[in-house]
Amino acid sequence: MDYAIAPATQGFKPLVFSGIQPSGNLHLGNYLGAIANFVKLQDVMDCIYCIVDLHAITVWQDPAELTKSIRELTAAYLASGIDPRKHIVFNQSRVHEHAELAWVFSCVARMGWLNRMTQFKEKAGKDRENVSVGLFGYPNLMAADILVYRATHVPVGEDQKQHLELARDIAQKFNNDFGSRISDLHLGVGEANGFFPSCEPIIQGPATRVMSLRDGTKKMSKSDPSDYSRINLSDDADTIAQKFKKAKTDPEPLPSEEKGLEGRPEADNLVGIHAALSGRTKASILTEFGGGQFRVFKEALTDLAVDKLGPIGQRMKQFAADQAYIDSVLRDGGDRATAIAAPVMNDVKDIVGFLR
Ligand code: AMP
Ligand code: TRP
Repeated sequence: MDYAIAPATQGFKPLVFSGIQPSGNLHLGNYLGAIANFVKLQDVMDCIYCIVDLHAITVWQDPAELTKSIRELTAAYLASGIDPRKHIVFNQSRVHEHAELAWVFSCVARMGWLNRMTQFKEKAGKDRENVSVGLFGYPNLMAADILVYRATHVPVGEDQKQHLELARDIAQKFNNDFGSRISDLHLGVGEANGFFPSCEPIIQGPATRVMSLRDGTKKMSKSDPSDYSRINLSDDADTIAQKFKKAKTDPEPLPSEEKGLEGRPEADNLVGIHAALSGRTKASILTEFGGGQFRVFKEALTDLAVDKLGPIGQRMKQFAADQAYIDSVLRDGGDRATAIAAPVMNDVKDIVGFLR
């Protein structure tokens, strides 16, 4: 592992949880910001990787497309090197404890906390009255995803930081609100005697925020209407070449030092992508390409991207062709996830005072 990981909350078993929405167009940002870290963490801790279909429907999804996207994302996880025998891969809606705990958390979290979420503000825009209630409550469900396994570490891209802080606040408020009950039932863990751990974000690696190829100030996103704004994991070599060729740049040649990237978001982004894919530093890339034309650099970047992403795209296609296998991975993962989540949810019911 080439980065430091904070220790788990004292007394809790280290466990990784993360998820991605099956909403199509899996892109280079998802790969470098999230999936590449998912793959690395497999050697360090037990991991649960989820396809968060309940989150996907916070905005409209065509049902047949959603089913397809769930299988595609599963294929992408496997093609990237996630091992479903050693770790758990499943789709969220299979394990009803996620939705159950999310409801409890909806009653723990405060309106004011959710009102501050920048992602909601961005996604709702001016149309706040017309978005789904689910979109507003989305971070409660995300907290439930993690905490229903009492997971301690969560690898995500930079844009999820605020949601993880909220998850920590919810865990802490639950631990406080029900503190005496947790002690009475002897369900507290570690010295702090809480029921839920404080999950640690893992927002590390060379590309925690990959930007759009059309506008270096906007993040690369599934929902950008222009397909030229992103490299999809399913893009073939020609498409990747076309997209880098058309990627926005500025008229200056590349600088020879990192400082020269300041105020040049597009150049910075492309050099960052190269660094992330090649495992080199930006400085060493600028030593090689500094002073040269973007065209030459873009050709090298294309070769590198095709080299790294091509095999993943190929394997994705192979996995996707074997629907029976994909479905069996999700079924088996769902069973193993339920085996962890169900006892936690039962304890939550006892803590809250429900009869079961
Ligand atoms: P989403 O596609 O919104 O479900 O995001 C899935 C994962 O990819 C999350 O961990 C995000 O933080 C990460 N991610 C999404 N877009 C980017 C990006 N442009 N750069 C880096 N990470 C990203
Ligand atoms: N909200 C995350 C995203 O859009 C996806 C997600 C849902 C998630 N539940 C999670 C990520 C739990 C980490 C842990 O990227």
